Amino acid sequence: MQQFGIRPEESEDWWEVEALYDLCFAPGREALSSYRLRDDVPPVAGLSLVARDGQGILAGAIRFWPVHVGDHDALLLGPVAVHPTHQGEGLGRYLIHHGVEAGRTKGWKRVMLVGDAPYYARFGFVPLSGVEMPPPTNPDRILGLELTPGVWTGIQGLVTRWTR
Ligand SMILES: CC(C)(COP(=O)(O)OP(=O)(O)OC[C@H]1O[C@@H](n2cnc3c(N)ncnc32)[C@H](O)[C@@H]1OP(=O)(O)O)[C@@H](O)C(=O)NCCC(=O)NCCS
Repeated sequence: MQQFGIRPEESEDWWEVEALYDLCFAPGREALSSYRLRDDVPPVAGLSLVARDGQGILAGAIRFWPVHVGDHDALLLGPVAVHPTHQGEGLGRYLIHHGVEAGRTKGWKRVMLVGDAPYYARFGFVPLSGVEMPPPTNPDRILGLELTPGVWTGIQGLVTRWTR
C-alpha cells in the first residue's frame, strides 16, 4: 500500500467520500436498510479511513457506524469502496484489515456488515443466523466477525440504530 497515503477521514473529506461511494455502488444505495441505521448517527470517531494516490485523488474509503443488536453493541462495517481504477490491488483488504484492527484497539468486540460472503470470508466473517437487519435485507448477506472469541454466540435479534 506504499503508493497510497492512508489517513483517518476528516470532515473535509466527507463529500468526496460520498462521491466515491456513488461511483462504486448502484444508484439508490441510500435506500438500503443499512442506511437507516446511519441516519442522524455519526460514524465511529477515528475508525474511518481514506486512501489517496500520489496525485491526492481519493482511491478508497471505509467508514464504521455503531449499532445495537438486541441489547448488545456492534460495529457496522461499511460502506467500503475502492475506485474502479484501483480495484484488485489489495487496497480494500488493507482498509478492512486496518479499520477492524483499529476497532479492536478501541475496545469493540464484534463487527458486522451486509455484504458478499465470498469476499468477506477471507477476513473471517461468517453468516450471522438470527441477526436481522431492517427489511428488505437478504439474510445470507448479514455477516459477523468476532474480535473476542465467542462474542457472537447466542446473539439474536434486530439490528437497531445507536441510541447512546
Ligand atoms: C469490494 C471492494 C471494496 C474490494 O476492494 P479491492 O481493493 O478491489 O479488493 P482487494 O484488492 O483487497 O481484493 C481483491 C480480491 O477480492 C475479490 N473480490 C472483490 N469483490 C468481490 C466480491 N464482491 N465477491 C467476491 N470476491 C470479490 C477479487 O476478485 C479479488 O480476488 P483475488 O484476491 O482472488 O484476486 C471493491 O471492489 C469495491 O469498491 N467494489 C464496489 C463497491 C462494493 O461492492 N463494496 C463492498 C460492499 S459489500
